[in-house]
Amino acid sequence: MTQEQWNAVDDYFADRLMPPDDALAAVLAANAAAGLPAIDVSPLQGKFLYLLARIAGARQILEIGTLGGYSTIWLARALPAEGMVVTLEADRRHAAVARANFARAGLAARIDLREGLALETLPALEREGIGPFDLFFIDADKANNPDYLAWAIRLGRPGSVIVGDNVVREGSILAPDGAGPNARGVRRFFDLLAGEPRLSATAIQTVGVKGWDGFALAVLG
Ligand code: SAH
Ligand code: DHB
Ligand code: MG
Repeated sequence: MTQEQWNAVDDYFADRLMPPDDALAAVLAANAAAGLPAIDVSPLQGKFLYLLARIAGARQILEIGTLGGYSTIWLARALPAEGMVVTLEADRRHAAVARANFARAGLAARIDLREGLALETLPALEREGIGPFDLFFIDADKANNPDYLAWAIRLGRPGSVIVGDNVVREGSILAPDGAGPNARGVRRFFDLLAGEPRLSATAIQTVGVKGWDGFALAVLG
């Protein structure tokens, strides 16, 4: 199987399932114009996150790793009128682009973007008594995934959904040279998923326009 075939099938699914979306196209254009890396979830993956949030009936969502807010907007669209997405971003430039994207999409009132290292902004959420969150999307520095999972458990409730992005990365989590901090972080994340009796988890490998990758999916018991 080749990347060209994966792209062709993703294109086919997108053609059938993804109507033209000017707001999201504008986000990707603004991200590219600002020089942000094109590492957002794909359109079909964004809709997958949207559907998960709808299925879960999520009202409060926490995302770790905003970039330009492409995934954030998919998640925010799944919310009922009184719902909120809190999204955490360390990079000032990314945060500024995301804020402009949220305003342009008319979603600024439903998205609370917190700038700073997530491990520094997460304790503030707890102090402020925000939550419990119904769904978490963990998509920042993979080396800190173990800590992000611990925070999701703290800030969640029975039934909360936890989604982790990029758990395969072309197989690099198991590669012989997979001793880098990201691969180690993802493996430690799976160790915690395996050993935490409050979590029931699975992982799904994906192919498509983003290559070979995958999502971890867990529910808090
Ligand atoms: N969720 C986005 C993509 C996020 S890319 C989407 O799918 O559209 C990962 C983001 O995490 C980058 O913007 C990066 O700056 C941010 N990040 C990396 N380390 C971080 C940290 N320690 N705290 C908060 N954000 C971080
Ligand atoms: C990278 C990060 C991501 O969150 C992603 O979905 C794809 C790639 C990266 O850092 O290369
Ligand atoms: Mg990602």
